Amino acid sequence: MQMEALLKKLDERHSLTLDEYEYLIENRTDEIAREAAERAVRTRKEIYGSSIFTRGLIEISNYCKNDCLYCGIRRSNKSCSRYRLPPEEILASAENGYGLGFRTFVLQGGEDAYYTDDRLVPLLKEIKARHPDCAVTLSLGERERESYQRLFDAGADRYLLRHETASPGHYRMLHPPEMSFEHRMKCLRDLRDIGYAVGAGFMVGSPGQTNRNLAMDLKFIEEFRPDMCGIGPFVPHHETPFADKPQGTVGLTCFLLSLIRLIYPPVLLPSTTALGTIDPLGREKGILAGANVVMPNLSPVGVRKQYELYDGKICTGEEAAECRGCLEKRMEKIGYKIVSERGDRKSWQSTTQNH
Ligand code: 5AD
Ligand code: FES
Repeated sequence: MQMEALLKKLDERHSLTLDEYEYLIENRTDEIAREAAERAVRTRKEIYGSSIFTRGLIEISNYCKNDCLYCGIRRSNKSCSRYRLPPEEILASAENGYGLGFRTFVLQGGEDAYYTDDRLVPLLKEIKARHPDCAVTLSLGERERESYQRLFDAGADRYLLRHETASPGHYRMLHPPEMSFEHRMKCLRDLRDIGYAVGAGFMVGSPGQTNRNLAMDLKFIEEFRPDMCGIGPFVPHHETPFADKPQGTVGLTCFLLSLIRLIYPPVLLPSTTALGTIDPLGREKGILAGANVVMPNLSPVGVRKQYELYDGKICTGEEAAECRGCLEKRMEKIGYKIVSERGDRKSWQSTTQNH
């Protein structure tokens, strides 16, 4: 089948075979990417108009017990200077964010043993008591099901846990032996069962990734239907085993954003900081490819440089004290508007028989 016909089929049926996804990725041209973006933007506009949702990202700790080979805050990186925001500072960041118009806070951190349920539960309750109109999203890695349940009961609404790759073999290449693909997937299922809005996602151009692997990621998104899907280019970090590996590209990342929009039209799709890092207009390009969320940094400026997942991460200097204003201007320039709403995923009725 021709490329155009495959895109049309995806647009109408929201599903392709693994071979068809791989074929699309393998044979991408600028022309096809433009057509995919056009279809993706049209699809998104039908559901979300030209609204862009925003989430205030608070990076609560860069201590991590994991050792993912791609990540700058892996435990083996001895030159990483570690910090942990105390609860008062997290509350102050949320307060500040609320004043700026944020109605979703994302508490993100490494897998830090300090942040036990007993410490997180009162913190979550306090944020929800102070800001009952806000959604709280957690992004704290793999935990026990009971822990996810307690945090949900304390008021957490959403959880971001990228699956990183939907291929078990590729997963093993990116992670130390003690981590497993099966456990990652179990966490995602637990989160969904408990009632969280769930975010999955993967890196584009991570070491060892093949087009087949990416096709598997798309199939996974099609089948799991995460509420949110975070994808961004892999960017090397100089203190990791992948220091010399090439970074992902803007072109492929944007093409995949478009395909994911067509696969699951109501998905919340962030145009990520990593995309903005490899191209000064990367986040704008992501929106124009079909993304509809931006996640400005709300962490205290003093710790931002330390949350260095990859080299050159933007929004870490003094000039970035107010990422929200910066992104508002950037979005306006391309004809979009950042809105102050919680920005939950809209419901959607597939008109085909596939699901
Ligand atoms: N390049 C791009 N993204 C990265 N992440 C971690 N390290 C890197 C890197 N070197 C992403 C992972 C993780 C998320 C928080 O950041 O996908 O899930
Ligand atoms: Fe952070 Fe522009 S979004 S400085």
